[in-house]
Amino acid sequence: MPASGKRLYIHEVATRDGFQNETRFIDTDHKVALVNRLSQCGFAKIEVTSFTSPKAIPALRDAEAVMQRIARVPGVVYTVLVPNVRGAERALSCGVDEVNLVMSVSESHNRGNLRMTREQSFTQLRDVVSVVRDTNVAINVSLSTAMGCPMEGDVSIAEVLRWMQRFADLDVHGMTLCDTTGMAYPSQVGNLCRHVVEAFPDLELTLHFHNTRGMGLANTLAAIEAGIDRFDSSLGGLGGCPYAPGATGNVCTEELVHMLELDGYETGVNLAGVIDAAAILPDLVGHAVPSQILKAGRRLDLHPMPATAGDAIPDQDAFAHRGP
Ligand code: COA
Ligand code: ZN
Repeated sequence: MPASGKRLYIHEVATRDGFQNETRFIDTDHKVALVNRLSQCGFAKIEVTSFTSPKAIPALRDAEAVMQRIARVPGVVYTVLVPNVRGAERALSCGVDEVNLVMSVSESHNRGNLRMTREQSFTQLRDVVSVVRDTNVAINVSLSTAMGCPMEGDVSIAEVLRWMQRFADLDVHGMTLCDTTGMAYPSQVGNLCRHVVEAFPDLELTLHFHNTRGMGLANTLAAIEAGIDRFDSSLGGLGGCPYAPGATGNVCTEELVHMLELDGYETGVNLAGVIDAAAILPDLVGHAVPSQILKAGRRLDLHPMPATAGDAIPDQDAFAHRGP
């Protein structure tokens, strides 16, 4: 059924979730140029970089330089990932619009990724909230492994709601549920999202899917059906957490926008501009990217009839007597 123009909000995360996982260091100039290009594409939000330890995430060690040099477009929210107070102070010094605090719902992934227990992370992030609260910078919290942990397996809805409640009690503006290693499946997503929408009607909710097992777009549709209207996605389908075994790319932005437009949703995103931007990625990162749209084009990017095809096509009568 066509979605008759329902508005959805797309957050581009390639320069954070995408580049954090690349072995080749992307020059600061190239990062800035890509963010500037993405800023012209109509995204609601761009996750520019992360203020993490340069030892943990060397690919993003130029976070200050990138954040200071990008040309900001009014209406786009420029957000950055932050794991601790040190990261928040660095982010605030660059005048970000939002800090995106991160911890995992599962203990094992939190220890692997952030080298802290969940309780230690929560304490750090509560301190971050108290530092940021008096500024005009918005606070979003991303919960990793909210739909499955590669070390622990299933994550219960009750556990997700429990951590969300703790942050909701701190009055954060928004929360993102992350399927860090693509373990979610559509009926699970629908069920989780219905619970979350009902429990936290005042939070700005975002879903963050990885396409690790090919279910990213299906999961997106399940989340929309359950009332979610914000999604993270990554240009070219880059992405992945270096501290999550088996992690691969996010839902691909051009695949997501292409599908949502066909189904009648309003994303505000200029698909042609996004596809042009994605086309530079293989050269930039030094390898092919997962995007199917880059390979196949849009659904109605038609091809010329092959010159050799003419006489070889049988006329309709030749098929008339055949069954289906
Ligand atoms: N920015 C810059 N440097 C930081 C930092 C930050 N936000 N937080 C810590 N550091 C530095 C410390 O100053 C210290 O430096 P030194 O060795 O020169 O003294 C070093 O990093 C270690 O600090 P420590 O507090 O012991 O941190 P840690 O080594 O236990 O690492 C994190 C903890 C959270 C900082 C680190 O694991 C991290 O940044 N993880 C991010 C993971 C990530 O982004 N994953 C993908 C996205 S989900
Ligand atoms: Zn991710």
